[in-house]
Amino acid sequence: MKQENPKSLTALNRLIAAAEPMVEGGTRAVLGEGPLHPDLALVGEQPGDQEDLQGRPFVGPAGTLLNRAMAEAGIDRSEVYVTNAVKHFKFEPRGKRRLHARPNAGEVKRYRGWLEKELNFVQPKLVVAMGATAVLALEGKAIPVLKNRGAHLFPGHAGFITVHPSSLLRAPDDAARRTGFAAFVADLKAAKKLATSHRKAA
Ligand code: URA
Repeated sequence: MKQENPKSLTALNRLIAAAEPMVEGGTRAVLGEGPLHPDLALVGEQPGDQEDLQGRPFVGPAGTLLNRAMAEAGIDRSEVYVTNAVKHFKFEPRGKRRLHARPNAGEVKRYRGWLEKELNFVQPKLVVAMGATAVLALEGKAIPVLKNRGAHLFPGHAGFITVHPSSLLRAPDDAARRTGFAAFVADLKAAKKLATSHRKAA
């Protein structure tokens, strides 16, 4: 990222939207969405196929699961800021399909400056990192998700670490899916409670 000094979230988003997709054939940058000064900002990995096509975060299968988990945790999505560590879909073409490819550490690092600026404009009470890529972007280095699951102080942000909703879609069977989903809902509830306590303390 060259030297950029946007003065507002709108200006930052304009910069992000003007950037080239990461992979040839990618459609657009997917910007974060939601209110400023929310209790929670949820950070995912990168847009998937549907997000790249529709231009909104978490509108594909992982988003459906995330919406269901938020509803069960008593969280209204319209009150939460939702974004990704990496703003473009990285994929490998396979015939007509575009298969998700995980961004590498260098790519996450390149997008990190934007995420930091974005969160500084959004000013959430608590930043929830969902999965390893979000953790890497927010922490500035890789740390294990499961060992650090729960409340976590990221450099510059009160945070919370949980799994990525896609990991629940990959669970080996129904029992594992159910257990994983319940634990994810419990994390979202705990994060909401923590954010509320930060709000009251502010
Ligand atoms: N997975 C993510 O991490 N982000 C999205 O927006 C969709 C799927």
